[in-house]
Amino acid sequence: MKISITETDQSRISEVDFNHLQFGRIFSDHMLEMVYKDGQWHEPKIIPYGPIQFTPSMQALHYGQAIFEGMKAYHVDDETLHLFRPKDHHQRLNNSARRLCMPEIDEQIFIEGLEELISLDHQWVPKQHGHALYVRPFMFAAEEYLAAKVSKEYRFYVITSPVAAYYSEGFNPVKLTTSEKFVRAVEGGTGEAKAAGNYAASFLPAQNAQKKGFTQVIWLDAKEKRFIEEVGTMNIFFQIDEKLVTPKLSGSVLPGITRRSVIEIAKNWGTVVEERRVGIDEIIEAHKSGRLKEVFGSGTAAVISPVGVIQHGDETIRLDEEKIGPFAKKMFATITGIQYGKIDDPFGWTHPI
Ligand code: COI
Repeated sequence: MKISITETDQSRISEVDFNHLQFGRIFSDHMLEMVYKDGQWHEPKIIPYGPIQFTPSMQALHYGQAIFEGMKAYHVDDETLHLFRPKDHHQRLNNSARRLCMPEIDEQIFIEGLEELISLDHQWVPKQHGHALYVRPFMFAAEEYLAAKVSKEYRFYVITSPVAAYYSEGFNPVKLTTSEKFVRAVEGGTGEAKAAGNYAASFLPAQNAQKKGFTQVIWLDAKEKRFIEEVGTMNIFFQIDEKLVTPKLSGSVLPGITRRSVIEIAKNWGTVVEERRVGIDEIIEAHKSGRLKEVFGSGTAAVISPVGVIQHGDETIRLDEEKIGPFAKKMFATITGIQYGKIDDPFGWTHPI
């Protein structure tokens, strides 16, 4: 399918201070738009970034049939940009689409759309190491209909945003707390889809945690409130003795692309990786006995984020609150080294543009 392009006649790039980027506040000049109607996706268009029109009866606004993805494009050199694992993001988008009864998107259209959009806005990809162009594909139900039913119309967009670190802590350790009252997802629910509503439901508990001085909630399973699942915007890893341990994808955990990359890199180093149920009690015990060496989160936005504190009821696990541990540091250097083309990519994850 051909992608039509309408370029802006007024670039906003000169207004951007690339030395003081915040996460997700500034949007580049263009966006991709594609409409699903009459049982099919229609011609994708790249158009100037700006407000879009829809009606108040649009179904996504009422029933939350909306999904998204998050990936990044990295500046390698003046000729080359890298997207990281875009085909994996495409697959996950389609998995989310199936769960929410939404139409899938063809891989070729998805990849070509990203390539065209990012090439056109290549000047928006920050050059500073550690910064990147955050790419946000998203889809929502667009039929004008108040019945709580699967929509027959959808819109798909890709917008992009030059970003720095996601957390205000930057690369400093974040503080996490469990929630006594709330859960993020249940098996059989939408927890493993990147559904907009999962995030909306997490805001109240996250706000409560922030009021108490924590960065985010570390979620426990919904049934027993015992097993760790993930953190607000990232998956989680524990280094216990010499092993790397992470909650398995139980059906209510988001299958992170960075999570998968961390596991593959660690295995490649010869580290034993265990994907299994991880009890919060086990982590408290491992900390008390000195076996818990490091804790860090992984995500597209968060990259590798060291964890300094985990609170659960009366127990507080304090890791090195000041700095990042050697394992997380090496993982961060390796993963970003591959993303920015500074070191070889033996896995074939980088997608040059
Ligand atoms: C990402 O890491 O890309 C995410 O989707 C997290 C987001 C909620 C900021």
